[in-house]
Amino acid sequence: MKFFVDTADTADIRDLAATGLLDGVTTNPSLIAKSGRKFLEVVEEICGIVDGPVSAEVVALDHETMMKEAEILRKIADNVCIKVPLTIDGLKTCKALTDEGTLVNVTLCFSANQALLAAKAGASFISPFVGRHDDNGFDGMALIGDIRLIYDNYGFDTEILVASVRHPIHVLESARIGADVMTAPPAVIRMLSKHVLTDKGLEGFAADWAKTGQTIL
Ligand code: E4P
Repeated sequence: MKFFVDTADTADIRDLAATGLLDGVTTNPSLIAKSGRKFLEVVEEICGIVDGPVSAEVVALDHETMMKEAEILRKIADNVCIKVPLTIDGLKTCKALTDEGTLVNVTLCFSANQALLAAKAGASFISPFVGRHDDNGFDGMALIGDIRLIYDNYGFDTEILVASVRHPIHVLESARIGADVMTAPPAVIRMLSKHVLTDKGLEGFAADWAKTGQTIL
C-alpha cells in the first residue's frame, strides 16, 4: 500500500520523505489555508520534495473554470495530480484531464456509487473520506471494502486512496482490504512506528548498556 501524507506543511513533508515512506502528498483548500502560504508556491515546493503524485485541488464549482484552474496547476510540475470534487462538473473535468494524460484525484467520495462514477470517468485516484464517514454514523471501512469489490469486479484501474484517515486502525484496515493508497496526517504516520513494547525494550537495553560502562564512539 502506498503512503501519501495529507498536509501542506513542507517541514513535515521533508522530515517524512527522509524515511523513504512517502509515495505522494495530498493537499486541500483547508490545509493550504492552515499553512498560511500561497497555494501555487507551496505546491511547487512540495513537488520538489516528493517524486510521486502531489494532489492540488481546484476550487471552482463549474467545469469550465475547473479546467482553467487545472491548466495553471498542472503547469507547476509533472507530478501534480489535479484534485476535483465528486460532482457532475468534477467528473467532466476528470474525464477531460485524464484523456489528456493528466493525473486526477476525485475527492469528497462518500458512497460506492460515487466511486463507480469516478472510475468510469477515468479517475487515477478515488478519495473516500473514512474519518468523516465514521463521524456521521456510517462505516468508513465498509465503504472501502465495497469500492474494492466493485473495482475488482470490473477491473477498473482507478486507485483507491483512503482519505480522512484519523488513526492507525484505519491504516491497518485499509491494508487488510487491499486499498492501493492511504493518505494520513503526519502525526498518524508517525504513530504507526509506535509500540509500548518497543519503548520498554529500548529502556531495558539502555539500562543494561549503562552497566557495561562502554561506549561505541
Ligand atoms: C484527502 O485528500 C483530504 O485532504 C483529507 O484526507 C481530508 O481529511 P479530514 O477529514 O481529516 O479533513
